[in-house]
Amino acid sequence: MDRQLRNQNTQPLPPMKIFNNFDVVVRGWYFACKSQDIKKKRILSLVLCNQQIVIFRGEDGVPRALDAFCPHMGTDLGIGSVEGNHIRCFFHKWAFDGAGKCVDIPCLPKPLSNVKLRSYACREQYGFIWVFPDDIADFELPTHDELENKALLFIAGKSYIRTCHHHVTMINGIDKQHLKTVHGVNIEMQLEYSENEHEANFSLKGNIPTENFTGRLLKKMFGATYEYSMKYSAGTIGLLSTMKGLFLLGKLNYQLPEANMIFAYRPLENQCVEVQPIYVTEKRKGILGFFINHFLLSVAWLGFCWLKAEDGKVYENMRFNPQRLLPMDQPIATFIAFINKLSPSIWSKPKAPTTIAEPVL
Ligand code: FES
Ligand SMILES: [Fe+2]
Repeated sequence: MDRQLRNQNTQPLPPMKIFNNFDVVVRGWYFACKSQDIKKKRILSLVLCNQQIVIFRGEDGVPRALDAFCPHMGTDLGIGSVEGNHIRCFFHKWAFDGAGKCVDIPCLPKPLSNVKLRSYACREQYGFIWVFPDDIADFELPTHDELENKALLFIAGKSYIRTCHHHVTMINGIDKQHLKTVHGVNIEMQLEYSENEHEANFSLKGNIPTENFTGRLLKKMFGATYEYSMKYSAGTIGLLSTMKGLFLLGKLNYQLPEANMIFAYRPLENQCVEVQPIYVTEKRKGILGFFINHFLLSVAWLGFCWLKAEDGKVYENMRFNPQRLLPMDQPIATFIAFINKLSPSIWSKPKAPTTIAEPVL
């Protein structure tokens, strides 16, 4: 039985609109595969958010994404071939361009104008190929504020599976209570929040406590406050910036760079989610730049390992209920409200069919 349906008589769970609703795939960017998984003139057929799609690179090296099943008889185009910037079905050799338009049917003098495959917006960034569940994306892939318009260096971590909805794991970054109860970080954080229609920005800031030696040392080394931010892109990608507002020896003219990472999510079958961590920094030049880059990537990675080890078991098999939050859980309530304003995509679970398909000539 689905986790969401368990304990309904004793612990009823209200229906969810978008947040924590496994039937809805929101309009947002989903990581499909690593860039290196598809070489030039190659095709990959894969399931993304329960949708079978093909991604292929033409001779121009640009990745393109289409629905996978050939509109003729349904062959998976993944076993076809790439010609120029077109994809050709293995079975009867119909060919399609990157927009899904049929451009050749060998047994006919010209292709049928009413045959089209649905295409999907596709981008290559952070070492991955990302797909948006519509032909034109509503917005571009997100960047950390500090890294806007900069050359980037990034390293992908090992992806992992969580047995809960990704909206639920995403609240980890803004769950103020658990900073103390799970991670032992005893800083009273104040929240700053802003949002637009596809992005929610949480910034949490607090004074470093000085009642113990470690706190006093940290204050001397980096200044009096600690701050981090979480930017959520459409509930499918989280961008974490840590070490914000830290100043070497507390001196305002020695601001330290931030350590940044991305959590990318894609829902899987059986109410699970795959989480892909990516560590990102500015690509600095020279020997010193090399060391700073790798120091910051390592800090982001170590921070991630520390948090993941402590949070790891919390979200396994969680059946989240949003109806018993406390005032201090306000960031979580804000996040849920943001997610519930997002739009479902055409990859969301369809309603039960009402007609039976007949063969059409
Ligand atoms: S099934 Fe693809 S061309 Fe016939
Ligand atoms: Fe955590």
